[in-house]
Amino acid sequence: SLRPSPCFIHEESGYNKNLFCIPKHYEEDVERVFIPHGLILDRTERLARDIMHDMGSHHVVALCVLKGGYKFFADLLDHIKVLNQNGDKSVPITVDFVRIKSYCRDSPTKKISIIGELSTLNGKDIIETGRTMKALLAKLRDYKPKTVKVVSLLVKRTHQSSGYRPDYVGFEIPDKFVVGYALDYNEYFRDLNHICILKEKAKEKYKI
Ligand code: HPA
Ligand code: MG
Repeated sequence: SLRPSPCFIHEESGYNKNLFCIPKHYEEDVERVFIPHGLILDRTERLARDIMHDMGSHHVVALCVLKGGYKFFADLLDHIKVLNQNGDKSVPITVDFVRIKSYCRDSPTKKISIIGELSTLNGKDIIETGRTMKALLAKLRDYKPKTVKVVSLLVKRTHQSSGYRPDYVGFEIPDKFVVGYALDYNEYFRDLNHICILKEKAKEKYKI
């Protein structure tokens, strides 16, 4: 493909949190701002353009993987809507939502269940090994879609990767735990705009 590799985020990347606005209730918890909100939106705008460029004219169902994907999903669709309104090409889009529960985190024969109802389930918010996404794709095949494309804001560089690569990727990040922009630690930090790294003592504080 002619498309460049996704934005590469280095191990030592990030900014002093005092240079940005952090909600007061999280001020003590954040170690540093890893990917500022503005940068997320700028990269998302370009992903929207790339996606629209590759898209046919047939009806698209945009499927959001909750909960961690909801911010990215909404912002990506907003950018796509702008292109749909102002470009030569326009495609009808409907939306749907799934939540995924992953079992046996370390098992190579991963089982997942797709659920529609609310419960406190342990979903995966980021593509790490890629196994959850592979399992979801296998389930989606039951519905016989014409084509399926996967868009992920983040992928992690980890030696545990199954080699799975989404069709569109915003950022490639090191193997660190990140929160914010709908990504959580025990349900906290989804209400933080920037993608951030936590302090160790914050992981203790919000431990369950
Ligand atoms: N942050 C939040 N949720 C996650 C992560 C992460 O780094 N990796 C997998 N789920
Ligand atoms: Mg989570």
